[in-house]
Amino acid sequence: MKNLPKKADGTLGILIPGLGAVATTFIAGVEAVKKGLAQPFGSLTQMSNIRLGKRTENRFPKIRDFVPLADLEQIKFGGWDLYSDNVYEAAKKARVLDAGLLDQIKMELEDIKPLKAVFDRSFVANLDGANVKQANTKHELAKLVMDDIENFQDANECERIVMIWCGSTERYIEPSGVHSSLENFEKGLRENDPAISPSMIYAYAALKLGIPFSNGAPNLTCDIAAMIELAKETGAPIGGKDFKTGQTLMKTILAPGLAARALGIRGWFSSNILGNRDGLVLDHPDNFKTKEVSKLSVLEDILQPDINPELYGDIYHKVRINYYPPHGDNKESWDNIDIFGWLGYPMQIKINFLCRDSILAAPIVLDLALFSDLAKRAGMSGIQEWLSFYFKSPQTAPGLRPEHDIFKQLIKLQNTLRHIMGEDLITHLGLDYYQELIEAL
Ligand SMILES: NC(=O)c1ccc[n+]([C@@H]2O[C@H](COP(=O)([O-])OP(=O)(O)OC[C@H]3O[C@@H](n4cnc5c(N)ncnc54)[C@H](O)[C@@H]3O)[C@@H](O)[C@H]2O)c1
Repeated sequence: MKNLPKKADGTLGILIPGLGAVATTFIAGVEAVKKGLAQPFGSLTQMSNIRLGKRTENRFPKIRDFVPLADLEQIKFGGWDLYSDNVYEAAKKARVLDAGLLDQIKMELEDIKPLKAVFDRSFVANLDGANVKQANTKHELAKLVMDDIENFQDANECERIVMIWCGSTERYIEPSGVHSSLENFEKGLRENDPAISPSMIYAYAALKLGIPFSNGAPNLTCDIAAMIELAKETGAPIGGKDFKTGQTLMKTILAPGLAARALGIRGWFSSNILGNRDGLVLDHPDNFKTKEVSKLSVLEDILQPDINPELYGDIYHKVRINYYPPHGDNKESWDNIDIFGWLGYPMQIKINFLCRDSILAAPIVLDLALFSDLAKRAGMSGIQEWLSFYFKSPQTAPGLRPEHDIFKQLIKLQNTLRHIMGEDLITHLGLDYYQELIEAL
């Protein structure tokens, strides 16, 4: 008999570096749902069902009734930001949710005040806040974050903690020597190595305490050998990078469909305008580069031009993001896709997605928090590839091609849940009982 994960008893603390548009929309959303003011649409842990057993068994429980997840009532929130606005003020400034809704949960949101951030302008040049920690070394900064975590855990009597990076996108960096082992990384912390970013300091602090860490931005953060080593050592689950929302969500829905029908693609031009603080940060070329790399890998991995050169060998893929303040958080994206079919005849697809970035991201934060907590209780440490479903640029074991196809990602997620609970995996073959059904006619 398989060991089932421990029950989710007690309080779960969700700690978030970066209390901006996504984080405040997430926190306010959970508070609104708890009060019965709205529904958690977009969240698999709250809304979706999972099939168990054969199709003839008709078993489709809600995911949250199938696996032991923390209940929304058991959650406490905390976080860090370089701006000192509490979550109510920050949510108002983000202008994602209506003031009328925010006022009904004002007290709960005002109680959540950002702790002082670990911040370094050399990684995010377009921001400059005063709510920032001071210390002589990056190692001391990591210690201060660990103190914050432990104080939060004591003050809120939390049984367990998870951390999710919802901070701004940091400048593009490539993995280097300091990231290549835990020993080098810890030496780098003590010597203030410039290649250690603030997000890595938070991740290090969490993992050192055995706390699950997920990365919602495209920064390297926990996608380096040093963090993988640390996560294994302390038994902490990790996952990243970059929440899959908006345009990339559409790409990973549409591209697998075109590839499934062996339709060719000549070009895919993606353009976005957005006007929130994220857009302001991404207006800087060094920060845009981090996002661009994350967005570009998607098509290549789904279409595999190396093994399908006739269909995808010549594809021209371009992604543009433009800062346009009047749109605020309501990002607008256009995609022009040049495809070809039978005998090479060309066709075009145009997508104009009028999306709401943080509305799409908030349920992802909730699911990642609950699932990474489940993973920890199920004894699963290190990279959680089954959570690729939520990321634009999923972290995988070194050398493995990430899976971007959203449908394969969903199958993997659901089968992992079945595996955790000792249920049969579903292959969709069904031959074993298909014949029985026909014979019974
Ligand atoms: N909104 C989406 O749909 C979406 C999708 C994928 C990824 N993301 C990523 O999620 C992150 C958050 O997006 P957002 O729209 O909430 O942006 P935002 O600018 O509204 O919020 C980010 C917050 O992080 C804070 N911050 C920056 N560096 C920090 C640090 N070192 N420590 C603590 N706080 C720090 C900023 O002050 C800001 O309040 C961004 O990196 C974004 O690229 C967002």
